Amino acid sequence: MSKLEQIGKDTLQWVDDRFPLTALWKEHVSEYYAPKNFNFWYFFGSLALLVLVIQILTGIFLTMNYKPDGTLIPGTNVSVAFASVEYIMRDVGGGWIIRYMHSTGASMFFVVVYLHMFRGLIYGSYQKPRELVWIFGMLIFLCLMAEAFLGYLLPWGQMSFWGAQVIVNLFASIPVIGPDLSTFIRGDFVVSDATLNRFFALHVIAVPLILLALVVAHLIALHEVGSNNPDGVEIKKNKDPKTGIPLDGIPFHPYYTVKDIFGVAVFLAVFTAIVFFLPNVFGYFLEDNNFIPADPLKTPPHIAPVWYFTPFYAILRAIPSFLGTQVWGVLGMGAGVVVIAFLPWLDRSPVKSIRYRPTIYKVILGLFLVAFIGLGILGALPPTGTRTFLSRVFSVMYFGFFLGMPFYTKLGQTKPVPERVTDTNTSRQVWFLFWCAVTLLGAAVFAKLV
Ligand code: HEM
Repeated sequence: MSKLEQIGKDTLQWVDDRFPLTALWKEHVSEYYAPKNFNFWYFFGSLALLVLVIQILTGIFLTMNYKPDGTLIPGTNVSVAFASVEYIMRDVGGGWIIRYMHSTGASMFFVVVYLHMFRGLIYGSYQKPRELVWIFGMLIFLCLMAEAFLGYLLPWGQMSFWGAQVIVNLFASIPVIGPDLSTFIRGDFVVSDATLNRFFALHVIAVPLILLALVVAHLIALHEVGSNNPDGVEIKKNKDPKTGIPLDGIPFHPYYTVKDIFGVAVFLAVFTAIVFFLPNVFGYFLEDNNFIPADPLKTPPHIAPVWYFTPFYAILRAIPSFLGTQVWGVLGMGAGVVVIAFLPWLDRSPVKSIRYRPTIYKVILGLFLVAFIGLGILGALPPTGTRTFLSRVFSVMYFGFFLGMPFYTKLGQTKPVPERVTDTNTSRQVWFLFWCAVTLLGAAVFAKLV
């Protein structure tokens, strides 16, 4: 052993005597046995971690030059906050790439997290014993939505201002406490500098702290019960009698660290292509109206949230006011998010993975996907009679998926679940690509027609 190696070993021993570093590494990485049949759906957890790190790092650098100040620069209609973002884009060295990484990261976070959640749906990952993993995930999802909403106000453009105006006003429709609650959230009677200051404080420190704590809890809960897999087979049921290691498990490191690096490479290729060539993504990642400074006297003709909120926004708009109050829409939108948390108790199927579920479940899951994407498209467009009608149909389908689950998951004949995990099946991958193409094409045609 060289002198350098000896120093390294001694230092590690010194640390281990005071802090369980090696023990933690073994428990959660090198001796964490994950099912050997993970497929690409299992990339999205580690990719979500990557995006979280990207957001925190780029956020720190943005904060060095951003100014949360809604007052107007004398003689202009431009606020100090808006101007500080333009300053970052034009004058700060490397500022443009940091900002585009942060804005692209926000949308990509939702892309990755929606796919991560959908994986949970198709493989029944929320079922016993992973209910808490799912609940922590849902709390993460709520925090992520809050974080994105708060951050969107900061550039103080037209969409920032009016988006915040619309959403905070929704709270005012809650009976009795509503008006006071919305004033409390704003810190003023209108969206103002006070609102910008508190949103900044919440966006840069309060919510990220909670988010980080929840991600740690999510992973601790997952490692306590072990990962699910595309077959929905519990690998802990088949252990090597001598070593106690699951027969279908492989150490997370090096096998899945290497696999995840491949996922990261593909993800970064897409991510950098967007940052360098298409940072606005046709107004979906950065909305056109947000390049105009906030003007409290000029309401934009069409106010829509960023794409990742539009499915829930469409539910809000689909529900008409009743008994003179809009609160039903607000409750419907909230219920649309919260109902996802109850999946572990709504699903009564004896099998986890879609591979062994009956056709009826596959059809209903397909209809749910149609409803969710349909709502997302409709929520981004200005409302018309037909669009409102379609939003209502899709809202019913959306809630029907959850509320009907205790009944339809009892129907049909499940296929026998194997004892051990199975190999990858190429025909399944071909079918998967086919359905991806159908979904994308269907969404594009629907968006054009509607
Ligand atoms: C910042 C956001 C999130 C991060 C960083 C994160 C991270 C992870 C990681 C690293 C894993 C293990 C690898 C994998 O299975 O892909 C995982 C598993 C899981 N996550 Fe998340 N997650 C996030 C959000 C969510 C959300 C919003 C949900 C659902 C509501 C969720 C539900 C799950 C479930 C059910 C598993 C276990 C999957 C299985 O074993 O099949 N996660 N997560």
